Amino acid sequence: LLLGSLLSPFLVECHLKTLKYRSDASQFPPNFLFGTSSSSYQYEGAYTADGKGLSNWDVFTHEPGTIGDGSNGDVAADQYHRYLEDVDLMASMGVNSYRFSISWARILPKGKYGAVNLAGIDYYNKLIDALLLKGIQPFVTLTHYDIPQELEDRYGAWLSPKLQEDFEYFADICFQNFGDRVKYWITFNEPNVFIIQAYRFGRYPPSRCSKGFGSCTTGNSETEPFIAAHNVILAHAAAVNLYRTKYKKQQGGKIGLTVQCLWFEPISNSTADKLAAERGQAFLSNWILDPVILGKYPREMKDILGSALPEFSKNDLSKLQSSLDFIGLNYYAAFYVQDCMFSTCTPIPGTSRTEGFIRQTTKKDGIPLGEPTGMPYFNAYPQGLEKTVTYLKERFNNTPIIITENGYCEASDSNSTIEESVNDNMRVKVQASYLDALSTAMRKGADVRGYFLWSFLDNFEWTFGYTKRFGLYYVDQVTLKRTPKLSTTWYRNFIAEHIRAE
Ligand code: NOJ
Repeated sequence: LLLGSLLSPFLVECHLKTLKYRSDASQFPPNFLFGTSSSSYQYEGAYTADGKGLSNWDVFTHEPGTIGDGSNGDVAADQYHRYLEDVDLMASMGVNSYRFSISWARILPKGKYGAVNLAGIDYYNKLIDALLLKGIQPFVTLTHYDIPQELEDRYGAWLSPKLQEDFEYFADICFQNFGDRVKYWITFNEPNVFIIQAYRFGRYPPSRCSKGFGSCTTGNSETEPFIAAHNVILAHAAAVNLYRTKYKKQQGGKIGLTVQCLWFEPISNSTADKLAAERGQAFLSNWILDPVILGKYPREMKDILGSALPEFSKNDLSKLQSSLDFIGLNYYAAFYVQDCMFSTCTPIPGTSRTEGFIRQTTKKDGIPLGEPTGMPYFNAYPQGLEKTVTYLKERFNNTPIIITENGYCEASDSNSTIEESVNDNMRVKVQASYLDALSTAMRKGADVRGYFLWSFLDNFEWTFGYTKRFGLYYVDQVTLKRTPKLSTTWYRNFIAEHIRAE
């Protein structure tokens, strides 16, 4: 046993050397951020500790039938109590940045209708200070899906324009309390995902959808997602405007927004399928990015949706255009796309006009695009990351990009033992290929400033509960013990080899 444990670091090293990666160190500029990514609801636990209010996810997960394995984030990875241990583990991996989100309900248990919870401020202060002490930059998302339940009850969440002001109020408190030390802010994580899940398919709170889209029957899947997104986009612009006018000069940070992008590969060379791939991007990520960078919704969306797409007022536009310093990009999957507008194809649910008349598939002539993973619809296709980064570079005039998430869920993870899980060769292979693909895009001129791997720890994967493991560290859901996977060593080595100080 002793010999085994003495030999094991050596064996890991040998094993990793056989998994070759090619990324050229010179592609990663000085001060490139190498980190891992997380979010409050998926990590913190302590859901009622020290004055925290209930979030919409606290309430939603306690309703029967909402989460596949019947679990919730009450404890999650318990980072609220274990942040010091976690910061130490991160420091030993050599990351120079950590992306986490702030639980709005921990800071403002009742939104702006109640007092600030000082214990919540204290927690994030301690986390930020502990990170900085180890040379790790805090990279903070203001809201990663979770909002105070109070605001969901009062307004029906993002369907109401009123929530814009509440978000700005919350952002102000965060900038004021943490902005002296936080130099990177993200307003929203993946609005294009949570809005579709919450207002089209009813799978996330407030669980709204019209008949035929999911199990809920309250809502209007044809119109509500666009109203909710409009309010999120304007809330983002309000927070950015506030930061720029009140804090930026003194605090000198940068602010962005994170979207989830998929790579859409036209299934054929036909013009119709190429246009369909472009419509796919319009209805997925450009839906959010065009307004906050170019000040308007994509033309493809306007043409198809007409008046279902809300309008921006002159006043909105003045705050909206160029309202980010960098694009936060989450990348996990790619699809073939087929046209359903000019050609006949068999639409599947969700391929109607509200998604731009396209059909997405993962196979062409029976051959899959990339490797299957443990997440349905997430296929590992690293070239898709290179193509997506290049696409964004061209569309948005080389606006800086930070990869705020990129990760892999092992196909065997759902029911695997700890031994199988920690021996995550496939994760190492896939992540190394992703970084290789990223460095290729950078070599071709894309201005990429950072890379955050999802995820530092195994955590609560939304409607999948704890059945999906994305972590570099295995977390035992009973003891909460963190055990390094093979990928931890690989990431540590990769960073050591590629990190460069100015
Ligand atoms: C993106 C989301 O931001 C994150 O919360 C989620 O866990 C990962 N994707 C993996 O699905």
